[in-house]
Amino acid sequence: MKKIAAVILAAGQGTRMRSDLPKVLHRVAGRSLVSFPVDLAARLGCDPIVLVTGHGRELVEKEVRACCDSDKVVFALQPTQKGTGHAVMSALPKLRGHRGAILVLSGDVPLLDRASITKLKKAYSKTGGPLAFLSFRPENPAGYGRVLRENGVVAIREDKDCTRMEKAITEVNAGIYLIDIGFLRKAVKKLSDNNSQGELYLTDLVEAAAKISSAAAATVATDMVSGVNDRVDLARIDATLAKRIRVALMRSGVTIRMPETVRIDKDVKVGRDTEIDPGVQLLGNTKIGNGCRIETGAVVRNSTVHAGAVINAYSVLDDAEVKTGAEIGPMGRLRPGAIIGKDAKVGNFVELKNTTLGNGSKANHLAYLGDGDIGEGVNVGAGTIFCNYDGYQKHKTVLEDDVFIGSDSQLVAPVTVGRGSYVASGSTVTKDIPPDTLAIARSPQENKVGIARALRRRFKALKEKALKEKALCKKKKGEKS
Ligand code: UD1
Ligand code: CA
Repeated sequence: MKKIAAVILAAGQGTRMRSDLPKVLHRVAGRSLVSFPVDLAARLGCDPIVLVTGHGRELVEKEVRACCDSDKVVFALQPTQKGTGHAVMSALPKLRGHRGAILVLSGDVPLLDRASITKLKKAYSKTGGPLAFLSFRPENPAGYGRVLRENGVVAIREDKDCTRMEKAITEVNAGIYLIDIGFLRKAVKKLSDNNSQGELYLTDLVEAAAKISSAAAATVATDMVSGVNDRVDLARIDATLAKRIRVALMRSGVTIRMPETVRIDKDVKVGRDTEIDPGVQLLGNTKIGNGCRIETGAVVRNSTVHAGAVINAYSVLDDAEVKTGAEIGPMGRLRPGAIIGKDAKVGNFVELKNTTLGNGSKANHLAYLGDGDIGEGVNVGAGTIFCNYDGYQKHKTVLEDDVFIGSDSQLVAPVTVGRGSYVASGSTVTKDIPPDTLAIARSPQENKVGIARALRRRFKALKEKALKEKALCKKKKGEKS
């Protein structure tokens, strides 16, 4: 077969979604619906890939430019949505000079795979065209165009135009076609909107093809071609896709416990012998290396976790990097720009943002480390805070190698603690500290011997006096009533 062009229909609003967002921008497995057919067409080597947009056009085009790196994509405008036939007509100016077949895909059918397209091509080649389409048998055919057969396909009848008898037909149109472009150019001119929706139906080309030669249908599994019309479909397709992703990962050597509770987006990569506990979410373009452990409730978004690292329970990572053998949490929080070095440790309730923690360094409990550059072999004590923000600008805290920060210290940025220095517990550091220095930045302690006893006596007397007054007050009230 010659080079195939693709036309992807994505101009409709998707009224049944009841959404301000165009339907094809809703997401499953972390990806917009429209990105799936664009990706498939790119993988099939289609050239050009014409995306028909209309409703929410700017948003749809922006998304496709951002998510799909194919240079074959061109956009065609369908300013008003007068039906699927009209949508394909809108794409024709972008297909001038093209010969052979065009593949028509739907912007709202994300599960379609290459094997189904192979079936479609076979059906097309077998009859020699000019048209083949995919059909399926859903549990409930309501809403779909029915495939009418009399010794072969004769037409597709839209649900709203079906007689009662035709409604009983269970084979339906998936909305995926391979059409000879010469035939298409002529046939679309004859489309009429004389139907219950007043639209130009692409499906009417099936009858036209059957009349002049043949229209072939290749039947595929419902899972492959079910489309999104409302949010119930969206959830179902999301679940189907999520399962496919988990199964593929498990087959590639990833352990997933209670897999139905685990959510992994389509672009996520996970290395072999990594173990994923129940309730984990791996999102966006996250990459997890070999032999990692991701404990229950962890949420990892757009982050890289290298081999052998451990993400303990309920830790949340965004745009972060965790190097080999490092450990996070439980309940660790890595925000954008957090880079955790080899064998480093970030413990519970520790938050890092735009901060590098050097190899083998530790921040084990309750800390906020923002806009920091922390060297190797550093120990950050419990309750340490990098005061990085003055209300207007962010400032940097530098801890050089082998620094020790005592518990409950604040480092008021910009500030640098030199190599090998100690900061005493409870210090508020506002000045740079040279290397190998002990810095104590807190008021010195005074011990007033015996004063505690006197204090206790005073407090006790005060409390007894207050109780007596209260009792007296109550008594007076009782006498009155
Ligand atoms: C269509 C088919 C139906 C099939 C079903 C499968 C027609 C007339 N009907 O119905 O036989 O069973 O798909 O899911 O084709 N679109 C445009 N411009 C328009 C109208 C639609 O770009 O003017 C796009 C939509 O954005 C969508 C796709 O075409 O991506 C399908 O449109 P939709 O309205 O969902 O068609 P259905 O009524 O589901
Ligand atoms: Ca549809």
